[in-house]
Amino acid sequence: MSDGRIVVSGLTKQYRTVTAVDDLSFTVEPGRVTGFLGPNGAGKTTSLRMLLDLVVPTSGTATIGGHRYVDLPEPTRVVGAVLEASAAHAGRTGRNHLRANCIAAGLPLSRADEVLELVGLTPAADRKFKGYSLGMRQRLGIAAAMLGDPAVLVLDEPANGLDPEGIRWMRELLRGLAAEGRTVLVSSHLLNEMQALADDVVIVAAGRLVRQGPVADVVSSLSDGDHVEVFTPEPEKLRAALQGLGASVTADGGGSLAVAGVTAAVIGRAAHAADVVLHQLRTEHPDLEEVFLQLTHGKAAIR
Ligand SMILES: Nc1ncnc2c1ncn2[C@@H]1O[C@H](COP(=O)(O)OP(=O)(O)OP(=O)(O)O)[C@@H](O)[C@H]1O
Ligand SMILES: [Mg+2]
Repeated sequence: MSDGRIVVSGLTKQYRTVTAVDDLSFTVEPGRVTGFLGPNGAGKTTSLRMLLDLVVPTSGTATIGGHRYVDLPEPTRVVGAVLEASAAHAGRTGRNHLRANCIAAGLPLSRADEVLELVGLTPAADRKFKGYSLGMRQRLGIAAAMLGDPAVLVLDEPANGLDPEGIRWMRELLRGLAAEGRTVLVSSHLLNEMQALADDVVIVAAGRLVRQGPVADVVSSLSDGDHVEVFTPEPEKLRAALQGLGASVTADGGGSLAVAGVTAAVIGRAAHAADVVLHQLRTEHPDLEEVFLQLTHGKAAIR
């Protein structure tokens, strides 16, 4: 497998009135799943299209394994892409659609059945595309992207239209492909899903880079760490009991307190010693969604 590092450098796309992508630079490493995140209109699709030579940049470059897409001698063997719910000839079966792609790319026809199996579409292989559900179309798109056994996979919102089982299937597939050493770059709005799927994130807003790095680092760099949600009918008594323990306590309303700086065990012990009744103790971990909203807040999505 060739080196599949993606390097985006100073990438810019100026449309007449909108700077869709504005001096964007980031890198995407092989062997990892990278989540490409940003509000609607942030420039994700435009960036991915420039990477794949479907849109000409105003300035800057995007390379895959050191080469621009146009300079790749056999692009389908290097990069597979799913940019939108795949389009195919309505009257063609899934298998025939993939076979046509094999012919166009100079690949053996047998690859069609292999990738159908990979995406779990074998039972629907001989049904016509027009009868495919949205999730089946997404799977067919991934199958087509995998035909050339590429080192790099680029997917724009691949979870669209997938049911919960489909989303889990996609997560396992993409994690497996990254574990084989491939580069997986995937855009999504599903932040909980991204936290489960991605190793790294690239967050953009209004065409610009906001943050890049391992998910855990990005989340912890901006959050104050865990806090404990405490439900008690005696909030003031508990607040007094926690004084002097280094806890910061804020009332959440509805009989709950948000306590930071101490663990649930410390709170439980303090409550017991002060004879305070507790109904619930719940440790809340900071999440990507919280951090994402914090990072992109106020950066006009629709420009
Ligand atoms: N062909 C075009 N002509 C003019 N403006 C465009 C064109 N393509 C994209 N834009 C604008 O560029 C900006 C970025 O769009 P883009 O589709 O890249 O965003 P996105 O991050 O993919 O958004 P979403 O999350 O909604 O898919 C938007 O303001 C959009 O209107
Ligand atoms: Mg988009």
